[in-house]
Amino acid sequence: MAVLLTGGAGYIGSHTSAELLGAGYNVVIADNFSNSTPETVRWIGQLAGRTPALCKVDLLERDGIDRVFTQYEIDSVIHFAGLKAVGQSVQAPLMYYHNNITGTLNLCEAMKKHNCKRIVFSSSATVYGTGTNVPFREDDPLSATNPYGWTKLMIEQILRDVWESDHEWSVALLRYFNPVGAHNSGLIGEVPRGVPNNLMPYIAQVATGKRPHLNVFGNDYHTPDGTGVRDYMHVLDLASGHIKALEYIKQNCGVEAVNLGTGRGTSVLEMVAAFEAVSGMRIPYVIQPRRPGDISICYADPTKAKVLLGWTAKRGLEEMCADLWNFAKNNL
Ligand code: WQD
Repeated sequence: MAVLLTGGAGYIGSHTSAELLGAGYNVVIADNFSNSTPETVRWIGQLAGRTPALCKVDLLERDGIDRVFTQYEIDSVIHFAGLKAVGQSVQAPLMYYHNNITGTLNLCEAMKKHNCKRIVFSSSATVYGTGTNVPFREDDPLSATNPYGWTKLMIEQILRDVWESDHEWSVALLRYFNPVGAHNSGLIGEVPRGVPNNLMPYIAQVATGKRPHLNVFGNDYHTPDGTGVRDYMHVLDLASGHIKALEYIKQNCGVEAVNLGTGRGTSVLEMVAAFEAVSGMRIPYVIQPRRPGDISICYADPTKAKVLLGWTAKRGLEEMCADLWNFAKNNL
């Protein structure tokens, strides 16, 4: 039996693939390489000492995803595949709804046809919308402020409705806060295409000389230093959270939303200082106006992950920045 990782060659998918292989799971990666490369899969195999099966598949091709289930004995799915740039989703909502929603519907149809009823879904803290009662808890009100966020919220609802129709399904909705860093080997990490949307990949490109300075989007938030506060978590901690979720859904039917975060908030300028301290590189920055859609403060209440999954984030900011810098200076 094998675990299928849709988008398994991507940033979070590749780290999760490597951890799963290392834990003895058989892994099948289905990826269309729209935001990843086949070379990453080779590095995953080198890291784990075992090679995942690889299928170049777009979830919009119903026959293609069906063939994966015919070719391999899939008993559970971790669903990473999806477009994820907030700004791009505002410019191209139809592309986001089609790609993320239709792709998920095709995946669920194939799972149902092949009697595979266990899924871990890559959701996001963005489903807490503009809520202000931090730390966010799983039963807090949900909303979205952009098409990307709406696709995450809609897919959570789709999976809840699938379970309502057949209680043999087991669904884990993992709400990621802010994954950062890279594998400590320096072999895999985040390689954004074009101008990075997210803070830490942008800082890494300033450190490697690809960008002249960081633009800090707003320093007038109601936070200790005026800059946005987020819950940054090492991507390897996030990967281990998926293994815990997989173990849980193998033993339990039903639907569980779970926050994956550290429970600690860190500001933009604190992240700049932490990266400078670890890398020895100066990160010049320019204060810019707030970015539309950004919220002031976002961090997790990670209690449910600890109680239900036995998971807590273990790595601190220093290790996040050190592993990011180690990957960036050798790859970016
Ligand atoms: C973090 C902080 C910015 C870039 C988004 C999505 C979320 C997930 C992660 C996909 C904020 C500030 C950023 C820059 C800056 N997406 N910033 N200059 O917005 O919390 O979350 O990415 O999985 O669903 O919503 O992450 O890294 O973009 O921003 O000042 O060049 O850094 O204002 O305060 P965010 P981020």
